[in-house]
Amino acid sequence: MEKEVILSESEIKKQFDYMSQVKTLIGTGKKVYIRTFGCQQNEADSEKLLGMAETMGYTPTDKSGQADLILVNTCAVREHAELKALSISGEYKHCKADNPQLIIGICGCMVSQEHRVKDIKNRYPYVDFLLGTTLIHRFPEILFKTLTEKKRNFWVSPETSVIAENLPVSRVPGAVEAWVSVMYGCNNFCTYCIVPYVRGRERSRNPEDVIKEVDSLIKNGVKSITLLGQNVNSYKPLSKPGYGFPELLEDLCKLDGECVIGFMTSHPKDATAELVEVIAKHPPATGKVGISRRFHLPLQSGSDRILKAMNRHYTLEKYMSLVENIKRRIPGVSLTTDIIVGFPTETEEEFRQTLDAVRRVRYDNIYSFIYSKRKGTAAAAMEGQIDERVKGERLRRLIDLQSEISKENNVRLENLTVRGLIEGVSKTSPEKMTARTADGKLIHFTGNPEDAGKCGLFLIEKAESHELFGSLVKTEDI
Ligand code: SAH
Ligand code: SF4
Ligand code: F3S
Repeated sequence: MEKEVILSESEIKKQFDYMSQVKTLIGTGKKVYIRTFGCQQNEADSEKLLGMAETMGYTPTDKSGQADLILVNTCAVREHAELKALSISGEYKHCKADNPQLIIGICGCMVSQEHRVKDIKNRYPYVDFLLGTTLIHRFPEILFKTLTEKKRNFWVSPETSVIAENLPVSRVPGAVEAWVSVMYGCNNFCTYCIVPYVRGRERSRNPEDVIKEVDSLIKNGVKSITLLGQNVNSYKPLSKPGYGFPELLEDLCKLDGECVIGFMTSHPKDATAELVEVIAKHPPATGKVGISRRFHLPLQSGSDRILKAMNRHYTLEKYMSLVENIKRRIPGVSLTTDIIVGFPTETEEEFRQTLDAVRRVRYDNIYSFIYSKRKGTAAAAMEGQIDERVKGERLRRLIDLQSEISKENNVRLENLTVRGLIEGVSKTSPEKMTARTADGKLIHFTGNPEDAGKCGLFLIEKAESHELFGSLVKTEDI
């Protein structure tokens, strides 16, 4: 297995040299359009791609038709995500007809699979380059070569376990929320999952680099930071033996300023009592750095037989005792989870065990997925694939159950006053504003967009399954 390597300063300098060469080559007025699919890891990667593109002189546009460079950052976790990315990439063919100088690049998890690379090479001749997830730091180089050599480039090896620090990152100016990757890749090989194949092996950033980045975000007014990793609990920096994720959280809570630190995702097999204690010890508070009360703990299935077939390394009872400890030690915690329905051979009885588990935990929210066969994973080759109709029906029953539970959980907040961070204008109803509680619940209220970034006290007037409606009682200036 390959060992992780922190890229040397000279390697990074090489990429900066490519950035200045591209800048000279393209001149002024060029635009970049980035379309992102998938999880927060991909959103974070897109911020890096945009950071590098801006350094090369491109300005961002939200209209693909006006772009001189289009990047599609793809996801491969379910078939639906791949088909969507492919169909969108197909649409950009027309942009190229209008602007023959346009460069189209596809990045992200989908292009780290051999069969997709072959497919795109043959069937999408207007795609100029493919760049795998573990190579995104070489984006300036691949763009330079594509522009100068006038040939297509496919750089897709997923096994290069490198960490690139000090590349430009473009975050939305003035945003109060940010993502910070603490580790990359995954070693768990859950039998349904493509991620370890497309993101390479686990590798952790140095704590000093993470702490420096978080500190500078807090100094710039960011109030909510989510630490990212496929399994943050296996955070293990090479430079500091014995130092793990609880130690990192502890160190981040020593920083000055006010900020809520969240994280995703935490694998139940590795969530230790020590982790729970660190979270318990640092609640979010005025004037302090604290840890979010939202705890995302993917269950996947309530059946021990299916959990074993998924290679999850925990039993339902082990998961439940973890949940009990979390609820006991972190008052007001909001638990959320991921569940897959219709894993190969899942019986009606085993699916009911999942429903029972959901009733026992009473999550605030669940992300439920129909099992999707991923080429090259162990589960794809298993006998007993479940009929699509049965999978759809199980998903509907699970969603109905969770909607009831979410609503019952939220209704308890009606007529109470809760604290929330004001995020800004609502994405769904522009006449409203939104705020987020420390446990991740969304509050809609009528207010002043200039209050974004402040904390406020809200009287909750009405609760639905997925949102709260309230009024702002007062803001707290920080
Ligand atoms: N590393 C994270 C998960 C990343 S993928 C973790 O372990 O929690 C996010 C979610 O997608 C998974 O938790 C799982 O519920 C779902 N998922 C992954 N592969 C899938 C597949 N083949 N079909 C359906 N859902 C899948
Ligand atoms: Fe996929 Fe499992 Fe790794 Fe999560 S822990 S990314 S579900 S293999
Ligand atoms: Fe998708 Fe890759 Fe994330 S497969 S879910 S974008 S790690």
